[in-house]
Amino acid sequence: MAHSASINPDVTQSECEVISKRKVGAYHHLTLAAPAIAEHAKPGNFLAISIGDMKSSMLLRRSFAIYQTVPRGPFGGTVEIIVAPHGPGSTWITQRAPHEKLDVVGPLGNAFKIPKDPVRALLVGGGYGSAPLFALAETLRQKNSRVEMAIGAATADRIFAPVEGKRSVHSLMIATEDGSSGAKGRVTDLFDNSLSAIDIVYACGPMGMLRALTEIGARAGVLVQCAVEESMACGVGLCMTCVLPVQDKDGVIKMLRSCIEGPIFDGSAVQWDAIGTIPPGTYGAHR
Ligand SMILES: Cc1cc2nc3c(=O)[nH]c(=O)nc-3n(C[C@H](O)[C@H](O)[C@H](O)COP(=O)(O)OP(=O)(O)OC[C@H]3O[C@@H](n4cnc5c(N)ncnc54)[C@H](O)[C@@H]3O)c2cc1C
Ligand code: FES
Repeated sequence: MAHSASINPDVTQSECEVISKRKVGAYHHLTLAAPAIAEHAKPGNFLAISIGDMKSSMLLRRSFAIYQTVPRGPFGGTVEIIVAPHGPGSTWITQRAPHEKLDVVGPLGNAFKIPKDPVRALLVGGGYGSAPLFALAETLRQKNSRVEMAIGAATADRIFAPVEGKRSVHSLMIATEDGSSGAKGRVTDLFDNSLSAIDIVYACGPMGMLRALTEIGARAGVLVQCAVEESMACGVGLCMTCVLPVQDKDGVIKMLRSCIEGPIFDGSAVQWDAIGTIPPGTYGAHR
């Protein structure tokens, strides 16, 4: 199978000291000393973090979106992540204390594409999926774009919207499924499942949300850049665990690696119905 993309050229593997850790609602906010990663990371990139010590049975790295980077400072440069304790690997990370070290590979993956001219952008985050959108908002605002953000989650403690992040957007809408914060319902209900006065949508969150936003964007003729969260094993392009069917500009469906060609894809190119399968006619697939 031919692949045009290769691993992020700025990637490094390093032992990163945990500088701080604090609880934010249902999540844990970790700051890591990671000068090389902080220098090169772009909004949308992610990290792959090793779990446990040399004797650990958890062999696979776990992936986390980069929330913020500070390229300089007392620690030479820091990277921040927002972790939801989910299974054993993510829970282990949330149990690390300051001064402990993590084995980190990053920055990985592609980045959100930034239009050259100012745009009216809508950024949509589901749960911790809002984390990488705040750095994106900053970048867009530096280009004089108007940035609206909408965040949805099941409950209020799963809405990640830090005070400093709110300053980087022109407006912030919140929806929770139980109504404990903002409007009651799904994040897509906030704009009545339609888009007006928006040039581009950036989205990060569960696959169902990304798919719904892609459909809304298609009806409005608006491009939706989706940061997908496909299960990953190696995180560096070798194992093909993270592939999903994506149509290229010639209409050919290819199984692309979300850790290398992604995690950010044009939502209209992703074959959402066929995720988890190899659709008939896929390039390179055997009959
Ligand atoms: C690009 C990307 C960015 C992510 N960003 C964040 C983030 O910012 N914050 C956060 O809390 N989580 C994030 N995740 C999800 C996080 O990687 C998983 O929750 C974590 O790997 C689960 O590991 P576990 O051992 O806790 O759970 P288990 O369910 O026991 O994991 C078992 C195996 O399945 C894989 N796996 C399970 N769930 C996921 C998942 N949702 N995505 C990818 N692989 C999975 C793990 O890599 C592991 O190898 C991201 C995932 C990807 C792919
Ligand atoms: S996770 Fe191994 S190729 Fe993407």
